[in-house]
Amino acid sequence: MGKILVTGGCGYIGSHTIVNLIEHGYDVISVDNNSRSNPIILKGVEQITGKKIKTYKVDLCNFDDTFAIFQENADISGVIHFAAYKAVGESVENPLLYFENNLTSLINLLKCVQEFHTPHFVFSSSCTVYGNPDEVPVTENTPLKTAESPYGYTKQMGEQIINELAKSSDTQCILLRYFNPAGAHPSSIIGEMPLGRPQNLVPAITQTAIGRLPKMMVYGNDYDTRDGSCIRDYIHVCDLASAHTLSIQYLEELKNSSQCEVFNLGSGNGISVLEAITAFEKISGVKLNYEIGPRRPGDVIATFANNNLAKQTLGWNPKFSLEDIMATAWKWEQRLKADETVFGSQYGELN
Ligand code: WQD
Repeated sequence: MGKILVTGGCGYIGSHTIVNLIEHGYDVISVDNNSRSNPIILKGVEQITGKKIKTYKVDLCNFDDTFAIFQENADISGVIHFAAYKAVGESVENPLLYFENNLTSLINLLKCVQEFHTPHFVFSSSCTVYGNPDEVPVTENTPLKTAESPYGYTKQMGEQIINELAKSSDTQCILLRYFNPAGAHPSSIIGEMPLGRPQNLVPAITQTAIGRLPKMMVYGNDYDTRDGSCIRDYIHVCDLASAHTLSIQYLEELKNSSQCEVFNLGSGNGISVLEAITAFEKISGVKLNYEIGPRRPGDVIATFANNNLAKQTLGWNPKFSLEDIMATAWKWEQRLKADETVFGSQYGELN
C-alpha cells in the first residue's frame, strides 16, 4: 500500500475520507489551496486519527506546484480527487470560473498521474451528470442527459477526460457519482463548513434551527411528487468516505474489470424536502421556521440511486439512516455554535 494523495483534503468529503483511509491503514497526503476550505478541519482529522497529516497548500491549477508534489512523493500509489468548485448556482452566474478551475486542475493532476504512472485514480463525480432523469431510481447505465448547470458539465466533461486517459495509460480509474452528501462525523470533531449562506438543504436546515439563519425557504411545493417538493437521495458523508477506501482497495486487489468503472453512491431512498424537514424536527425536537417559496432554477424534480452495483462490486454497505444524517448534522451545528471562537463566525470562511 503506497501513499494516497487526497486533493481537497480540507473539504467536507475529503476530510471524512482521510479519516477512513487512515483507519484502514493508509498513509495520506492532503493537498488543498484553502480557497474554499478551512485548514482547521485537518486538525480535527488529526484529533480523530491521532496521525499527523502531511499537507500541501497548493493550487492544482498551477502545474509546476502540482508536479512538485509528485516529484517529492514517488510512493504515491493512488489519487482521490475531490478539489473542485461545487456551487450549482454560482456556476450558472460564473461559468468560466467553473470550467477553468475544475478542468484545469483535473488536467494538471492527470498529466502528473500519467508522467509518474500512478496506478490508481478515483474521481469525485456527481449525480448531476444524469441531469433530470426520465426514470428513478438511477442506475449507472441511465443515459446522461444535458447537465442542469456548468458545474454539472464540469463533472460530465471530467468523466470523459478520465475515460479517455484510462484508455491510453496504465492508470486504473474509478468514477464515483455522489447523490446528496449530508451529515457529519459522529464525533462532531469534523463536519460540513459551508462558506457563507448554505446552498444545500441539510446545512440550511441546521443553520435555521440554531438561529444562524432567520428562516428557511422551501424552493417549491408544486412539483409532480408525492408532496409537491423535490425528491433527493441523502447519503451520509461517512458512508461516502468508506466507498472511497473500498474503491482504492478494489483497484489494489486488481478486481476491476475495466480501466474506468462508474459507481452510484446513494442510499437508494428518495426523500422529499418536506420529509427531510419532518425528519429533522423529529430528531432535534426543534420546530423549523420555513416557508414555501418559488422553485429554484436548475433544480431536478426527483432523483435517487440504484446503489446495487457499488454494494455488489465494491462490497459497499451504507450504514447511516436519514435520522443519523439529521442527528449528526444537528450535533455538528451545535458544536460549531459552541466553538464559534475556534471556527470563526462565518464557519467555512477563514479567520
Ligand atoms: C436539495 C433540495 C432544493 C436548500 C447539489 C448538486 C450536487 C451536490 C449536492 C456537490 C432541492 C431544496 C435546498 C434550501 C430548499 N453538490 N432546498 N431550500 O441541488 O440536489 O444537489 O448539491 O457535490 O451535485 O447538484 O442539493 O441540497 O442544494 O438541494 O428547498 O435552502 O433541497 O430546492 O430540491 P442539490 P441541495
